[in-house]
Amino acid sequence: MDIIQTVAEMQHVTYKQQHHTIGFVPTMGYLHEGHTALIDRARQESDIVIVSIFVNPLQFGPNEDFDRYPRDEQRDIEIAQQHGVDYLFMPTVEEMYNDEPTVQVTVKNRTNVLCGKSRPGHFDGVATVLVKLFHISNATYAYFGLKDAQQVAVVDGLINDFHFTTKIVGVPTVREKDGLAKSSRNVYLSANERQEATQLYTALTNAQQDMIDGEKNPVIIREKIKRYIEMYTSAKIDYVEILTYPALQPIETIDRTVIIAVAVYFSQARLIDNLIVSEK
Ligand code: PAJ
Repeated sequence: MDIIQTVAEMQHVTYKQQHHTIGFVPTMGYLHEGHTALIDRARQESDIVIVSIFVNPLQFGPNEDFDRYPRDEQRDIEIAQQHGVDYLFMPTVEEMYNDEPTVQVTVKNRTNVLCGKSRPGHFDGVATVLVKLFHISNATYAYFGLKDAQQVAVVDGLINDFHFTTKIVGVPTVREKDGLAKSSRNVYLSANERQEATQLYTALTNAQQDMIDGEKNPVIIREKIKRYIEMYTSAKIDYVEILTYPALQPIETIDRTVIIAVAVYFSQARLIDNLIVSEK
């Protein structure tokens, strides 16, 4: 595995590999099984696997956790190596954002709901860094986790709008045995909160079952999820939403594929989770 720190060197590699399929997995590091599921999928489907590790300052708000975002480069290098990564791209912030930018990417749709609403500017930062990373990696396929389903919806729009030839691949959420979605931010949970956090997935699967049993009213399902989370956890609810997927539009009757999405605040961590339920 080669570790690459400069854009020029990375582009030199991808230029040389242009006759091969390139699978690209963008991450912010502190790798766990959610990330390695994407890497393993890329390894199966592509000749060359590139993983980027870059904690992107642009997608963090002023009061968010950029400075304390968990980092462990040595461990990440070992994990990437074990999973057969060919190139690990680890640029510095200065390398990625060396000059005052002239052009800024603004995401216009799919962001006025869910995390986009709670985290203004977040998806502009994600889209900006991904324009750079898609360009640098020259990827045939780019792998994203459905744990961040809104991110998948926004990247899908970015790829279509800007005519990237990169194809997006959405990978199902990897969970702990008790159902909690794996996340780098789970380390912020206290032991008690860690127990309670499993209830998010239970609330979502209960809601999915209600839909399968014929409940078509999103308001009823939403209220039930809220009550459940309030009853069984100490978390403060940021949002509970049911929207069409991937357009992320409000819906009055559940008659097509929807996302049931939740975000909550524990004392030191904001957690998100979702289920996408397709109409049979
Ligand atoms: P990060 O949070 O490190 O996540 C990198 C990728 O791993 C994302 O596509 C995310 O959805 C996926 N992922 C995380 N936890 C997962 C889980 N439990 N199951 C499946 N996939 C999971 O998302 C980002 O970084 C950044 O926004 C990035 C795309 C790198 C742009 O900066």
